[in-house]
Amino acid sequence: MNKDGFVSSLKENELKDGQLKAVRIKGKPILLVRIGGEVFGLSNRCPHAGCTFEGGILRDYIVMCPCHGWKFDVRNGQYTENPLTTLQTYRCKIEFGKIFIEIEKPKQ
Ligand code: FES
Repeated sequence: MNKDGFVSSLKENELKDGQLKAVRIKGKPILLVRIGGEVFGLSNRCPHAGCTFEGGILRDYIVMCPCHGWKFDVRNGQYTENPLTTLQTYRCKIEFGKIFIEIEKPKQ
């Protein structure tokens, strides 16, 4: 892990625009979503019944769980029907041709 709390994951060219990919970083299941030049990281475990989001449908910034259709905004992890239900989100950045995910906040 870098001292800024970011951990490297996929190469930038392994995640195409509009694509969802599951990774596991430090034991955490994370869904990476690329929209344009931005990458979003979310917990890859649906709070409804625990399915993962691979095979889900992405429309604009909304990902739909493939199991029963719950929809979440990838920008903030909110369930569209109830914003009190959220997926954990992870900040992501692209540097040196790789995607980095912030797993832990850097210590002050
Ligand atoms: S497990 Fe995701 S909608 Fe049911």
